[in-house]
Amino acid sequence: MKEESGNIFTIFDEMLPREEKEALLNQRAKVIWMTGLSGSGKSTIAKALERKLHSHGHLSQLLDGDNIRAGINNNLGFSEVDRLENIRRIAEVSKLFLNCGIITINCFVSPTLEIRQMAKDIIGEDDFIEVFVNTPLEVCEARDVKGLYKKARAGEIKDFTGIDAPFEAPITPSLDLKTENREIHETTEELFRFIKSFITLSL
Ligand code: ADX
Repeated sequence: MKEESGNIFTIFDEMLPREEKEALLNQRAKVIWMTGLSGSGKSTIAKALERKLHSHGHLSQLLDGDNIRAGINNNLGFSEVDRLENIRRIAEVSKLFLNCGIITINCFVSPTLEIRQMAKDIIGEDDFIEVFVNTPLEVCEARDVKGLYKKARAGEIKDFTGIDAPFEAPITPSLDLKTENREIHETTEELFRFIKSFITLSL
């Protein structure tokens, strides 16, 4: 037991170690953190990656912004403070999966350098793979799959990322995944190849 502040005694050190769970699953757990504008293709690529990992015998969990905001984070909006809290909780949840040996594929706009740095600090640098789903704003807006850009331009949604709220592109992402004029299977394949060595358990 380790005494934390405020009468809290954690047992992290006494629990079955992550390495044993990773050995059971024959994989190394990582957090694949996908950042990008709304409509950039994060969720679409993540869904394809999840299936690909599964077919290669890897256990993963997809954590998606809209899903999470429909559940555990349904009390949060899109102010700076709420986005920070959204990502803080997600990073903590990701750590639970890491400790189970499970790969998480996280799709969150996570719009600022600060917000992603916080996620990286919580998760740990070695386990955090930052993937920039790099789709220009014009392309996201032209696609407008959810109709949200139209609403944001009309002033019906406030603080919309890319319109009247900032998006700071990663400066040195682990992978800069460009999606313009590319098929889903191509970008998914590029991402899968990139992460393969990280999730492979070396003997
Ligand atoms: S984050 O900024 O806190 O990381 P998150 O990824 O959870 O955002 O949620 C983004 C999704 O919420 C978008 O894909 C979009 O569908 C929806 N959304 C609704 N309002 C906004 C807004 N003001 N800014 C960005 N996304 C929004």
